[in-house]
Amino acid sequence: MSIARVAGANVSLRGVTVGYPGLRVFDDLSLEIPAGVFTGIIGGNGSGKSTLLKTIAGLLKPVRGEVLIGGEPPQSARAYLGYMPQVNNVDWRFPITVRELVSMGRYQFSWHRRLGSLIRNRDDRDAIDSAMEMMGVQDLRERQIHELSGGQRKRALIARALARQPRILLLDEPSAALDVVLDDQLFDVLCDLTDLGTSVVMTTHDLSTVIEHYAEVICVNSAEGGIVAQGDPSLILNEDVLRRTYGRELAILSRGDVHDDDGNLEDHHTFRLGDELQLHMDDHRHQQGHHHRRP
Ligand SMILES: Nc1ncnc2c1ncn2[C@@H]1O[C@H](COP(=O)(O)OP(=O)(O)OP(=O)(O)O)[C@@H](O)[C@H]1O
Ligand SMILES: [Mg+2]
Repeated sequence: MSIARVAGANVSLRGVTVGYPGLRVFDDLSLEIPAGVFTGIIGGNGSGKSTLLKTIAGLLKPVRGEVLIGGEPPQSARAYLGYMPQVNNVDWRFPITVRELVSMGRYQFSWHRRLGSLIRNRDDRDAIDSAMEMMGVQDLRERQIHELSGGQRKRALIARALARQPRILLLDEPSAALDVVLDDQLFDVLCDLTDLGTSVVMTTHDLSTVIEHYAEVICVNSAEGGIVAQGDPSLILNEDVLRRTYGRELAILSRGDVHDDDGNLEDHHTFRLGDELQLHMDDHRHQQGHHHRRP
């Protein structure tokens, strides 16, 4: 299995206004994502995480402003940009095998293009095999994609993005639906990739992993003007930022952390989440040097 060393690409958004017919999700958004770093995008449901990723990937065109990947517009950056959509946004009835799905990563985002001319040279074959191996789907290679389980679908989609050997990898909730072991494996693969230069930008709902391992976090909430905060998660994720990022959902996030002295679940006290995080972060600061991934 070979992971290619690549020069990571940075991302620049300048004055970007983007959304859907009748819905403006971001207005005049400017944002820089450093190259070669593990960056997480967090936010509540409907806060704009996927919209932001699709905009960076060039799948959603801003009505105003500019997106640059490694200094180029996303259309020109396609050859070195890997994108994994949120699993429920994919048509799984399409009649292709896992290997064919992963092979598409060498070419286009589109499901329909170039199926006839796939697997044409050795570099392609190596990249495809290596991507399947990294995501543990090589045994599923001849299976039809509609037969796959939720977690298997997710791994196949990530493998498709990896097959491109991208300078920047954009992943929309790769962790959800993976079991603990596979999630750890995925995380190791992504860390290896950032160590070799690749920029990894992924949305996630797993706050504790973000705090522990990510070099950079972007807190998204379109209802709060777009980006609530950005930076080193152990420095910026405080109660105020989380409250503005998650709004009403904060109470739900804190469920399970809130016990009274007898171990019974109390009514939600949103400030408790802040306390828990504070503890967690202090803990983390004592273990210097295991932040993965600022270059
Ligand atoms: N294809 C679409 N057409 C119209 N509106 C959309 C579309 N996709 C998303 N939206 C809307 O845009 C807003 C942002 O959605 P987005 O999918 O970016 O949220 P998200 O943060 O990824 O949420 P989740 O955690 O549920 O994946 C929401 O109000 C959503 O309803
Ligand atoms: Mg989403």
